[in-house]
Amino acid sequence: MHSNYSKRRVLLHWLSAVIILWTLVSGFYVAFNPVSASTEHWIGSLNVSLTTLFIPFFVWRAWLFFCELEPRGAALSLNKKLALVVHALIYLTISVVLVTGVLMMKSTISVFGLVRFPQPLADPALIELANTLHSLSCVVLSMLIALHLCAVLWHEFSGRRVVRRMSFAKPAGAMSRRAQR
Ligand code: HEM
Ligand code: HEM
Repeated sequence: MHSNYSKRRVLLHWLSAVIILWTLVSGFYVAFNPVSASTEHWIGSLNVSLTTLFIPFFVWRAWLFFCELEPRGAALSLNKKLALVVHALIYLTISVVLVTGVLMMKSTISVFGLVRFPQPLADPALIELANTLHSLSCVVLSMLIALHLCAVLWHEFSGRRVVRRMSFAKPAGAMSRRAQR
């Protein structure tokens, strides 16, 4: 079978999975449920800090995705091509979510009170547009992640150990080769 992902990619995958799943679940929960003003405030400022801090990690991860693509011209099966398209769509959608999130800000962007960035837009109509695009791209991202999780489950139940590939465990092939020596 194919090799594992590099350690950096595994670390970045699980870091972004935790941050993105938390932000999606808590963001939609606050948007669609009656919560107290203080809950809305702490979740809002935690999420803005966390996701702004996440931006450079995301840029690094997207860079590794392009640098570590399978060699050009390598014959890819239909399944692998499909996975590549969905993974690229996930990256594209996260980029839209991050950019529109920053653009929709109606106040200074504070990263845990340590660093502050000025609100980028002043025009209320543009801020509203960014807000709409942010909500829409979050819905698209949720659907892509649901598809991603179904694909991972399907591979695992079909006997393809894809979670192992996205872990720090040694590739199964390397273990058996060593055992044969
Ligand atoms: C991983 C990236 C992000 C995810 C998954 C995410 C997710 C969400 C979700 C699910 C909502 C609720 C959507 C709705 O109202 O229908 C939301 C709202 C919001 N997001 Fe994001 N977001 C991300 C990045 C950002 C960034 C980088 C910023 C700004 C620096 C930001 C600022 C906001 C703001 C201001 C709201 C509205 C909160 C409110 O209405 O009180 N988001 N986000
Ligand atoms: C608990 C949740 C998750 C599990 C169990 C999981 C599992 C996996 C596994 C096993 C792979 C490797 C597939 C292969 O062999 O090619 C993978 C890759 C990938 N996952 Fe997830 N994943 C989860 C959440 C997420 C989330 C929330 C995102 C969105 C940010 C995401 C984005 C990706 C991407 C883009 C890849 C392609 C590899 C890369 O570019 O690093 N995953 N995931």
